[in-house]
Amino acid sequence: MSGCRVCRSAIEPFMDFGRMPLANGFLTPDQFAGEYYFNLRAAYCPRCTLVQLVEQPQRERMFNERYPFFSATSVRMQAHFAALAGEVIATLPPGDPFVVEIGSNDGTLLRHAANAGIRHLGIEPSASVAEIAIAGGVASLCRFFDTEVAREIVAAHGQADAIVGANTLSHVADLHAVVEGIAMLLAPAGRCVIEDPYWGNVVAATAFDQIYDEHASYFTLSSLSYLFAQHGLAVLDAIPTDVHGGSMRYLVGRPGSKPAAARAERLLDHEQAMGLHRPETFAGFRDRVTNTGMALLTLLRSCKAEGKRVVGYGATSKSTTTINFFGITPDLVEFISDTTPAKHGMFSPGAHLPVRPHAEFAARYPERALLFLWNHAVEVRAKEAAFARGGGKWIVYVPTVQEW
Ligand code: SAH
Ligand code: TMP
Ligand code: ZN
Repeated sequence: MSGCRVCRSAIEPFMDFGRMPLANGFLTPDQFAGEYYFNLRAAYCPRCTLVQLVEQPQRERMFNERYPFFSATSVRMQAHFAALAGEVIATLPPGDPFVVEIGSNDGTLLRHAANAGIRHLGIEPSASVAEIAIAGGVASLCRFFDTEVAREIVAAHGQADAIVGANTLSHVADLHAVVEGIAMLLAPAGRCVIEDPYWGNVVAATAFDQIYDEHASYFTLSSLSYLFAQHGLAVLDAIPTDVHGGSMRYLVGRPGSKPAAARAERLLDHEQAMGLHRPETFAGFRDRVTNTGMALLTLLRSCKAEGKRVVGYGATSKSTTTINFFGITPDLVEFISDTTPAKHGMFSPGAHLPVRPHAEFAARYPERALLFLWNHAVEVRAKEAAFARGGGKWIVYVPTVQEW
């Protein structure tokens, strides 16, 4: 067995999803035969506490000119990143500060720096999204961030006063290359903000569908502190945020550049007390996922038996785990409604459920909508009031299977 991606110790697998396709591997029928599969297995490291995938597909397979996730799709995330950009900009030193974003995607966050006339650079390897950022006036480099890219940026622009990485470090297999790059790029008094889904929330909500190819790591303050400490950096604060089903925003800097927040100390104790890294926690998680799968399949089969149409809502990356791990087939879910044009006319990875424009959902409401977008439930339910008024019901499966 290969070792931990941070400390190289032997890792302990706790959940095996079997053969899985790429979560964002939406495809056309002529591509079905050559569809790529890999073994999706989650493990934890007893030494540095990192929860991680045992195997992650090659990064170019996932992040390329076809990458179909656009940050701007969610209005909620647009507001979230506008606020984060505001906070980052407010703490910049006077003069001619420089802001770098890692995984800048379509420029949703960085355009606020661009609009304010602040020197900035986004590092984004997926051309499909980077091109949108560039067209919108956000300076972007279409590369995978690592030590080499960091060295080039420092040579060309100097060190960064702020570095932001949202939902990106969790996507990185070679964590040391990225974190060492951050250590090289960050100015002595600079601040780095890392935000990613929090393993504590995945456990608490049984949000098993956060586990898929792109998410190589599931951080806690404990595991992230271990990682950054190896590169001479410290996690100075950790602030819970409620996006993506429960994320954590970590403030990283040089040790002593700012006093560590008492809140971070308390969170470390809390992680210990919750037993986030204990074998019983992993076993309990696995059992709850099994129960969710049985309950969801039972409900979908009874809908079918009663002649109720079920349509999936949101062709999310998470849904790939749910659909393929539980064995949800096209006879149970007619199609998946989605707002991303790039996914229309495509089929979902693995199970090949058709993906259709939202207009088809709205034109003829089904009896049930299976909410793959459970992390945006508030936004979606507000938007789809007419569906519920017409008698439609939502099926959700995180934290447990329920009909709303
Ligand atoms: N920050 C955005 C996008 C998150 S999706 C948001 O929160 O909405 C993850 C992004 O990280 C993808 O756009 C992917 O192309 C990018 N990415 C993956 N590996 C990377 C790396 N090594 N350096 C920079 N970006 C990377
Ligand atoms: P993700 O969970 O992998 O980020 O994918 C989210 C998908 O959900 C993306 O394809 C856009 C789609 N979507 C909708 O269809 N309706 C919505 O209201 C939102 C917020 C997203
Ligand atoms: Zn480890």
